[in-house]
Amino acid sequence: MMGTKFHTIIEPFRIKTVEPIRQTTEAERRVALETAHNNVFLLKARDVIIDLLTDSGTGAMSVYQWAGMMKGDESYAGARSFDVFEKSVKDITGFSHVIPTHQGRAAEHILFHTLVKPGDIVPNNTHFDTTRANVEDMGGIPLDLPIHEGRRAESVHPFKGNMDVAKLEQVLEEKGERIPLVMLTVTNNSEGGQPVSLANVREVSALCRRYEVPLFIDACRFAENAWLNKTRDHSLSHRTARSIAQEMFSLADGCTMSAKKDGMSNIGGFLAMNNGTIASQCRARLVLTEGFPTYGGLAGYDLEAIAVGLNEALDEDYLRYRIRSIEYLSERLLACGVPLVTPAGGHALYLDARRMLPHIPQKEFPAWALSLVLYLEGGIRAAEIGSVMFGRRPDGSERPAELELVRLAFPRRMYTQSHVDYVAEVVQYVNSMASRIRGVRIVEAPPVLRHFTAHMAPAHGALVA
Ligand SMILES: Cc1ncc(COP(=O)(O)O)c(C=O)c1O
Repeated sequence: MMGTKFHTIIEPFRIKTVEPIRQTTEAERRVALETAHNNVFLLKARDVIIDLLTDSGTGAMSVYQWAGMMKGDESYAGARSFDVFEKSVKDITGFSHVIPTHQGRAAEHILFHTLVKPGDIVPNNTHFDTTRANVEDMGGIPLDLPIHEGRRAESVHPFKGNMDVAKLEQVLEEKGERIPLVMLTVTNNSEGGQPVSLANVREVSALCRRYEVPLFIDACRFAENAWLNKTRDHSLSHRTARSIAQEMFSLADGCTMSAKKDGMSNIGGFLAMNNGTIASQCRARLVLTEGFPTYGGLAGYDLEAIAVGLNEALDEDYLRYRIRSIEYLSERLLACGVPLVTPAGGHALYLDARRMLPHIPQKEFPAWALSLVLYLEGGIRAAEIGSVMFGRRPDGSERPAELELVRLAFPRRMYTQSHVDYVAEVVQYVNSMASRIRGVRIVEAPPVLRHFTAHMAPAHGALVA
């Protein structure tokens, strides 16, 4: 850690390899957006200046990860790289069985395939889309139990990602025999990347133990969650992020993990647990869908990169810089009146399009329009989390989403403070022209996950009046 005499928090790394960012003009971006049918998912990455579409698999790897990759053992079975990977996961999680998968959703699929039967209920603070879809795929019912404050963009609570413990107790009491497992997603991605307190994990764990239901952590952002506990709960400020993470895992029976987040890797994931019988069943499924249990859909070099990355994610100089850069952007934007979800999340900042563009009705998708203008004005790519993503009901009718958000998700170790300053300037500018931004309409879209491929158009001739 740096000395305490100076307050500037620097990026705790030097840059050894660079990837040029192609600068584009507004005219070029206008053409790119038209070609992409007004959907930022359909843009070519080379036409984007700052890419904040996702923090998943997009980060920069360290020299130690690249060095580890050169040592990758690509043996089909019993590779040394698996031992390195397994040791790293066990040191942090304490779970006795470690099963590598090609990414997080594969771990979810294997776990739910093993544990969930049609009609079963899976409570979670809030399911991430792939977790929800994998529970439903098994005929299960995903049940979100966030605390009340978690669903309010402006509410102030240090741990808005928490699970509502009273509601969990009620459902365990009434329907316990239909609940094969309880999950906790840390941080709570679908509620704005908000942390779950260690106190909440302790309470949820105690309930699960009382009702003898296994608790699994969706651990994608376990290190960011640990750091937010250290800095927001005074009773934990003397502890290391590592020990907080270790305690969290010790309160659970297993976890699913996407190593594309706090594994600091471009691909990978795992499933880990203590129960040997369930682990054997999961491995049997793994062989069918992913590969042999010592590589699980990954190359030996991927296992090496994750083994190093999991530990780098817990480095406190890194975590301080990571969380601070998003907080810093949030402070700059709040100071000039940009409506945001507060407090800032661990991996992303969410712009509140309903408050920024109150003149655009939800049926004209304000958050989508905002994402297009951010690209047009500043070449920033960010994802709509609003009525295009969530508005279509299974019967084909439309229901506006609860929130209209644009998510600025930050890849790990990729952007520096000047990039963040640039983002602040662009968002501030777009906020100042908000009254001229117009809504959009759907031209064509598939029935499921339509935001990825929908073709959109301005609803009133031009996007900006
Ligand atoms: C909370 C959470 N769970 C699960 C996943 C799925 O992980 P993957 O994209 O590696 O399949 C994600 C990915 O964004 C996530 O954020």
